[in-house]
Amino acid sequence: MATTTAPVQLESSVTEFLRIPRKMLIGGNWVEAVSGKTFESYDPSTGEVLARVAEGAGEDIDLAVKAARAAFEKGEWAKISPAQRGKLLWKLADLIDQHTEELAQLETLDNGKPIMTSRKGDIPAVSDMFRHYAGWTDKISGSTLPLSAPEPDKFFAYTRREPVGVVGQIIPWNYPLVMASWKLAPALASGCTVVLKPAEQTPLTALRLGELILEAGFPDGVVNIVPGFGETAGAALAAHPDVDKIAFTGSTEVGRLIAKAATANLKKVSLELGGKSPNVVFADADLERAIPGSAAAIFYNQGQSCTAGSRLFVQKSVFDRVIDGVAEQTKKFKLGPGIDPASNQGPVVSKEQLERVCGYLDSGRRDGAKAVVGGRKLDRPGYFVEPTVLVDVNPEMKVVREEIFGPVVTAIPFDSPDDVLSFANDTAYGLASAVWTRDISKAHQLAAKLKAGTVWINCYNVFDPVLPFGGYKQSGWGREMGFDAIELYTEVKSVCARI
Ligand code: NAI
Ligand code: MG
Repeated sequence: MATTTAPVQLESSVTEFLRIPRKMLIGGNWVEAVSGKTFESYDPSTGEVLARVAEGAGEDIDLAVKAARAAFEKGEWAKISPAQRGKLLWKLADLIDQHTEELAQLETLDNGKPIMTSRKGDIPAVSDMFRHYAGWTDKISGSTLPLSAPEPDKFFAYTRREPVGVVGQIIPWNYPLVMASWKLAPALASGCTVVLKPAEQTPLTALRLGELILEAGFPDGVVNIVPGFGETAGAALAAHPDVDKIAFTGSTEVGRLIAKAATANLKKVSLELGGKSPNVVFADADLERAIPGSAAAIFYNQGQSCTAGSRLFVQKSVFDRVIDGVAEQTKKFKLGPGIDPASNQGPVVSKEQLERVCGYLDSGRRDGAKAVVGGRKLDRPGYFVEPTVLVDVNPEMKVVREEIFGPVVTAIPFDSPDDVLSFANDTAYGLASAVWTRDISKAHQLAAKLKAGTVWINCYNVFDPVLPFGGYKQSGWGREMGFDAIELYTEVKSVCARI
């Protein structure tokens, strides 16, 4: 299963970027941490150190928030026209496209994902997101409102939609640059200024993006990027009294801490958290599509997607056929270093993540689950674990209830649409879901009843900047993408004049 072809030739800009310790971006300058400390980012395909990065903590966050506040209140950014903001975002998208290969290589080295995924999936999605929001900048408007007060003709009332202010954004490691774009693009389109904290496992592409942001011409202090650990830099940002809004993507556990930290100054909060998404295959589905679709639903990005279709429900009459088919799909996977173009499955992101996934595999085994395929980590350097399909599971098992965030799917047979609906909704999460069937009535009836922020029908993991994305229940607060994200980054002001 392991691959051995020659790795991609690294661009000279990539080797240069990795050679020297990376600094943080505060107020338009690249600076070291106040403490002088640095931390290591690892290559998950070898476990070796890839780069050193300045380690931001509370005092660096404080400086970054001050820079963001100054840029928001008085700098050039405070006066810039909406159209000009759009041009800057569009310019940034062009620069990202011009550096696709470099960014893809950095992303693959830092995160582990296959180079083709970075090139064709992640990096193009990043420039698309900036272009989508470039188009919003001059369409963020209020309305005029007819009052019913006595002498209504003596009033002129309207709303203004204004940027919320200084925004803190904390992002995860599974789609590092994509997550940076989901956060930055709507905030900047709305006119906010930002302090972004990338994940400690994958800080590199966000820092390269910072250079492109300066090159595009964004004024100093509009985007500040402070790499560092969650418990220090992240916690300081979430608790900071001069941050007006915090946006977070990551674990539900940390989402709760962010919400608590935000209560001191009651900053606005949006959270995109974990999932345990049901993927439902009916016997009347086009199985030629449903089988590879269900394999991709869980195994894409090594299972490290908040939307991963990690609970596969299959109607009894086709259960064996679908499970065998999904298991068969995994045999086509070439598990190897992401930077090797032959690999289409990479390592998981870190030693901690490998141990977490293996811990779940052990727990499943102890509880009596059976691996139809996979089930073990690879005996080689790096953080490789086999794509795994577990059967003989029941709804009480940890592997069925908890987010594994690795290439592990649990498969459960069902009889009727009513049965599967109660199974599917039996979770603390509510991020995504999917239904595979040729019966459009059944599909849309189920779509209305699934408690999830996204329902895919006869497809999976289709994202688009116009599709609002977010969670029901413990999968989060708020919706990102499209105009919904503009709402997250703006305040509505009512102006009422007696004329
Ligand atoms: P995490 O939630 O700890 O990390 C995500 C981000 O939050 C990182 O930037 C981290 O530095 C920051 N962070 C951590 N603790 C913080 C704190 N106390 N205050 C402020 N920021 C903090 O996730 P982790 O530990 O990397 O992964 C654990 C599990 O979380 C995964 O196994 C998976 O189940 C889930 N997860 C979900 C993601 C999603 O996309 N919904 C993404 C990453 C992880
Ligand atoms: Mg790394």
